Amino acid sequence: MWDPCSCEQRPLPLSPRAQSVSLVLLLFLLLPLGPPWHAAAQRCPQTCVCDNSRRHVVCRHQNLTEVPSAIPELTQRLDLQGNMLKEIAPAAFQDLPYLTHLDLRHCQVELVAEGAFRGLGRLLFLNLASNRLSALPQEALDGLGSLRRLELEGNMLEELRPGTFGALGALATLNLAHNALVYLPPMAFQGLVRTRWLQLSHNALSVLAPEALAGLPALRRLSLQHNELQALPGQALSQARSLARLELGHNPFTYAGEEDELALPSLRELMLDHGALQALDPKAFAHCPRLHTLDLRGNQLDTLPPLQGPGQLRQLQLQGNPLWCGCQARPLLEWLARARVRSDGACRGPRRLQGEALDALRPSDLRCPGDPAEDEEGEPAAARPRAPPGALREEDGEARPCPSACVCASESRHSSCERQGLQAVPRGFPNDTQLLDLRQNHFPLVPRAAFLGLSHLVSLHLQHCNIVELEAGALAGLGGLLYLYLSDNQLAGLSAAALEGAPHLGYLYLERNRFLQVPSAALRALPRLFALHLQGNAVDHLAPGDLAGLQALRWLYLSGNRITQVSPGALGPAPELEKLHLDRNQLREVPTGALEGLPALLELQLSGNPLGALRDGAFQPVGRSLQHLFLNSSGLEQISPGAFSGLGPRLLSLYLQKNQLQALPALPGLSQLELVDLGGNPFRCDCQLLPLHRWLAGLNLRVGATCAAPPSARGRGVKAAVALFEDCPGWAARKAKRTPSARRTHTKGRRWGADKVGKERGRL
Ligand SMILES: *[C@@H]1O[C@H](CO)[C@@H](O)[C@H](O)[C@H]1NC(C)=O
Ligand SMILES: *[C@@H]1O[C@H](CO)[C@@H](O)[C@H](O)[C@H]1NC(C)=O
Ligand SMILES: *[C@@H]1O[C@H](CO)[C@@H](O)[C@H](O)[C@H]1NC(C)=O
Repeated sequence: MWDPCSCEQRPLPLSPRAQSVSLVLLLFLLLPLGPPWHAAAQRCPQTCVCDNSRRHVVCRHQNLTEVPSAIPELTQRLDLQGNMLKEIAPAAFQDLPYLTHLDLRHCQVELVAEGAFRGLGRLLFLNLASNRLSALPQEALDGLGSLRRLELEGNMLEELRPGTFGALGALATLNLAHNALVYLPPMAFQGLVRTRWLQLSHNALSVLAPEALAGLPALRRLSLQHNELQALPGQALSQARSLARLELGHNPFTYAGEEDELALPSLRELMLDHGALQALDPKAFAHCPRLHTLDLRGNQLDTLPPLQGPGQLRQLQLQGNPLWCGCQARPLLEWLARARVRSDGACRGPRRLQGEALDALRPSDLRCPGDPAEDEEGEPAAARPRAPPGALREEDGEARPCPSACVCASESRHSSCERQGLQAVPRGFPNDTQLLDLRQNHFPLVPRAAFLGLSHLVSLHLQHCNIVELEAGALAGLGGLLYLYLSDNQLAGLSAAALEGAPHLGYLYLERNRFLQVPSAALRALPRLFALHLQGNAVDHLAPGDLAGLQALRWLYLSGNRITQVSPGALGPAPELEKLHLDRNQLREVPTGALEGLPALLELQLSGNPLGALRDGAFQPVGRSLQHLFLNSSGLEQISPGAFSGLGPRLLSLYLQKNQLQALPALPGLSQLELVDLGGNPFRCDCQLLPLHRWLAGLNLRVGATCAAPPSARGRGVKAAVALFEDCPGWAARKAKRTPSARRTHTKGRRWGADKVGKERGRL
């Protein structure tokens, strides 16, 4: 591994004598190769120390604002750390083509220009740690085809654009720890075909796109500890098939289940320590057959089921869990013995077993109240502090503040008063609480400053609380809040200052309330909002400026409202918006004008609206980005030939099922479709459908299009039923170019009409 400090340990500068000896040697070796080292060797920037024999140049802490110009051309290691470069200009190092190591730590770098490192085709190690980068242009790292290790730790990166690392085909280690990443987009690491270790710890990741880790075929180790993941992103993780070690500690998971679909055939070590796990499904790791070490330290587990699947498991770390060694733990103990799994957990209770190592007990030691032996000990049945499902327990003997009726767990920093019949928001939670669960109580009013002092709160649950009003400043002091759950309440609006005090809020859940319009004034206080859930309200139109200021918005859910109109300017500009769900509303046409200003839109949900027809160019404004288009159950009878113009090879799925389509134009421009659903349409299989048949026949997809008419064709597949179209005019058009006989068929076909289709059926 590169030791960035190694150059300092060497005698620098060399004695003049040693220098000239090595120079002679170098001259001798290098003269035939071209570059005039003898000339270069004389040079050394004033502010630097040059060790020409080793080709090291060190210019640390010199307040340099640009790369010094007189660096010897043959330099291999250049150490510029602790300067004030601010910006790395295009081709800043083009005169140093022999560089293998470049150290730019602590250089206050804010910008790496496109092509900054062009010409450094031999560079192996690049250290950009501890700078001020908040973004990386897509071509910032171009030209680094030999790079083995890239350090970007300790910057301010908030997002990665797919393709950023596309030129780094030799990179083995990428370090992105201690940045501000919130989200990983699909294919974020595309091109890193040799990368073995990806460091993403100490970020603010709460979401990984399902394909965020695709294209990392060599990845062995992934570090994701100290992030904000609330659920195991099994689908995304399973893309990294070759992972052997996965570090997920210090994330606020509460549960790991089979549905998380963690499927990692090579995984040996899994760290899930210091999270908030309360339960584990027996099959949670069923698809990790080679798992050897499972670290569950510092969670909230009071017991654990025998795990099914990981037959090679040998080590199960359970320290710091409140394990209850009652009869419920017998299956666990039996399994540990049978499967020869070593475990290090200790019992929190019952009293007579407190502190005992779980591993040292026999199943017969584990008893429950009601067992004769247990009653003799006189332990009351109530001693078992079985919490209600979903709630959390307080640690024994800890003097932490916690409102009565609530449970405040110190290790997970979760506090809960779920379903306690509370009439007002309680106060007095521990000031380090990260998750506060108040759902299913009765708080018609959330007063001003209701959560003051909880500056570490990340997640606030207020679902099902009959909330009618959030007073201005209700969220004051919640500077760390990322998730706010207000679904299933009675909110009809939010005043302008209702959401002030939580400027980092990323996820706002307002579904199933009584909103008649988007609470746009209140939303202006949320410049970082990432996902807005407003499904199942009574919004009837979207007006210009409704989402103004939500520059970071990526997902917008408005399904199941009563929207009849989306005015131009109502949604945009929203430069980051990727998902727009407007399904199950009352739209009579595609709101084409409102799609302007959404350059990043990937998914548009319009199903379940009474659209009727699609006009030419209906999706033109989002044609360059759209990947998934939902138009199912939209009463579509007609689609004009130019309806999908503008949409091209980016489109991956098209949902048109359950409409009233009798015909559909061919859509050859959609050349990369992976899914087309045309089922449940009454296609009329006469010659006007030939282009569609042709197009479908060339797609290697199941499309579900069946004929409803003419009666003789009913039930046949539009794609497979070649005979229905064989005699249509134009059928042989392609062959006609090749053979004269085909041309004859073609003319014959022209005379025969659509009515021939029925007769032809008999031949099959
Ligand atoms: C760099 O600038 C700082 C602050 O102006 C100064 O104290 C320091 O001496 C400078 N260092 C060099 C090597 O010039
Ligand atoms: C939190 O409360 C404790 C005492 O309970 C106090 O010592 C600590 O300073 C408080 N921290 C903050 C950030 O207010
Ligand atoms: C449209 O199709 C998708 C995918 O099959 C489905 O999930 C969705 O519920 C459908 N929408 C309506 C309104 O039927």
